[in-house]
Amino acid sequence: MAESMKGMKRTHRCGELSAANVGETVTVMGWVQKQRNKGGIIFVDLRDRAGILQVIFEESDCGAEAFAKAERLRSEFVVAVTGRVEKRAAAANENLSTGEIEVRAAELRILSEAQTPPFPIEEDSKTKEELRLKYRYLDLRSPKLQRNLMLRSRITTTIRTYLTGEGFMEIETPMLTKSTPEGARDYLVPSRVHPGNFYALPQSPQIFKQLLMCSGCDRYFQMARCFRDEDLRADRQPEFTQVDMELSFVDVEEVIDTTEKMVQRVCKEAIGLDVSLPIKRITWQEAMDRFGSDKPDTRFGMELTDVSGVVKGCGFGVFTSALENGGSVRGINAKGQADMPRKKIDALVEFAKGYGAKGLAYLSVQEDGSYKSSFAKFMTEEELSALVEAMGGEKGDLLLFAADKNDIVYDVLGALRIEVAKQLDMIDNSKFNFLWVTEFPLLEWSEEENRFVAKHHPFTMPMEEDLPLLDSEPGKVRAKAYDIVLNGVELGGGSVRIFQPDVQEKMFEVLGFTKESAYERFGFLINAFKYGVPPHAGLAIGLDRFVMLLVKAESIREVIAFPKVKDASCLMSEAPNVVDEVQLEELQIAIKPC
Ligand code: AMO
Ligand code: AMP
Repeated sequence: MAESMKGMKRTHRCGELSAANVGETVTVMGWVQKQRNKGGIIFVDLRDRAGILQVIFEESDCGAEAFAKAERLRSEFVVAVTGRVEKRAAAANENLSTGEIEVRAAELRILSEAQTPPFPIEEDSKTKEELRLKYRYLDLRSPKLQRNLMLRSRITTTIRTYLTGEGFMEIETPMLTKSTPEGARDYLVPSRVHPGNFYALPQSPQIFKQLLMCSGCDRYFQMARCFRDEDLRADRQPEFTQVDMELSFVDVEEVIDTTEKMVQRVCKEAIGLDVSLPIKRITWQEAMDRFGSDKPDTRFGMELTDVSGVVKGCGFGVFTSALENGGSVRGINAKGQADMPRKKIDALVEFAKGYGAKGLAYLSVQEDGSYKSSFAKFMTEEELSALVEAMGGEKGDLLLFAADKNDIVYDVLGALRIEVAKQLDMIDNSKFNFLWVTEFPLLEWSEEENRFVAKHHPFTMPMEEDLPLLDSEPGKVRAKAYDIVLNGVELGGGSVRIFQPDVQEKMFEVLGFTKESAYERFGFLINAFKYGVPPHAGLAIGLDRFVMLLVKAESIREVIAFPKVKDASCLMSEAPNVVDEVQLEELQIAIKPC
């Protein structure tokens, strides 16, 4: 039978007690981690979100009734204990913050009994994730997830304090809205009142925050829940949170400056990390050329080298035909890996093919100066040594080359660089390398749609000096868009927005929108701009990703209280689910069997 707390008031959390409390009478409440009955003495580890505390029961202190209750305690029972804090009789437990003390119980109440949980609640659970997610409320009791949630809460508090101090207003924008321009699939919500019509859940508050600038709010932020129906990965969820902001009368510099100061403050307060400012910036082109990625991991080298000039006219057809087709030949140098077994190299070739490569050419420089290579036979000695030299190749090195269209070469070598670094343990996990990537291309060509699409979104401002190219070579136009990257993960991104109607019109035209279709989707924004719009710019940080990287979690699921799994379902609530016929009828929706 559950007992009441009546007359008992918690004085401390378990994990908050220390040697400073010795001699005090305290009341603690929490979950039984473990009970050990040693005959006349019972030890109970009591857990709450602050930590674990050892409580001891002896009949002479607590009386026969409480002792009998202590004998019944099992893991996850919820109890209240009053007792005296004492120095531990046995040696201190250095693994616990409360390791120097224990509480000698005088009173015990069992507030709630518990069935045996489906898995033990412990620091590094070995239980498979599916089961833990099904019982997420139990998994959340584990010290690690508790720490992650507490840190997340501290981080949002720090961000709020910082941004409000900088003159930002926190404003909520609607969840039931119209399709937004971020380019993923929308989650739709049917309207009962307007049968056949649907709201879209926001992929971001992009349009609303721009409207808020038109409204004179000047500086806006929001911890914004966003919804995107896209394939999930370790750093992607169908619903996630952005630290979303927008500023009026600013350009790139102010957004970068405000963001990096915020990031610096968060890193210091959350994990005591000093981030020195300004954060390094490179252009998108430089990022691609050096790292084959627009979100480079700069914790290690192994940068790409363009050897197109060196292999031009050589005897290896794979290289020369890539160049003739307007592509390039680039390579990476895996230092000291000349002895990599053939099997491993073949696996890298397969890996490269997974990123669209037709193959991966390799050359290793042996200790005697000879080469082992998949293509050496097609090239002269001179051509080979020029290639090795261009790659900075020395005895013992393994050189890997991709030849293709530029975007494939970047993709392949960008991914290969990371794969090789992981395999060779080259990544220093103690580092936090921030980087700004700027001057993204405004547009990218979509083979699927046979037209240019916005790389960021259609409201992104082109760089002034590239405006004339919008007509002649739209693919070459750079945008006033920037991403902040941490350890190879895109942490956030934003841009300066178009606020001139003629530029916006041109942009829609290049994107292949008719005037009508642009109005249909974004008419309220286009109209708002007719009534006086300040120049404005903004950015959104992925909060889940930020917390994930700060706690060095493998997945954002570890920093979200109730996450979804790969197929976007929630294993605990079993959402999504079928709904009642009646509900469907009200919405005038019929399910079409397929
Ligand atoms: P963007 O689409 O780049 O920009 O998103 C900003 C940041 O949000 C995070 N993010 C995600 N996190 C978890 N799961 C996802 N599925 C997911 N998708 C994105 C990333 C990303 O960098 N409105 C613009 C911002 C702006 O221009 O101001 C936007 O949404 O960390
Ligand atoms: P092949 O002549 O097709 O046998 O290719 C010779 C070598 O070049 C093999 O090691 C292939 O993996 C490699 N290779 C083929 N296509 C490419 C490519 N596009 N880029 C780099 N290497 C390639």
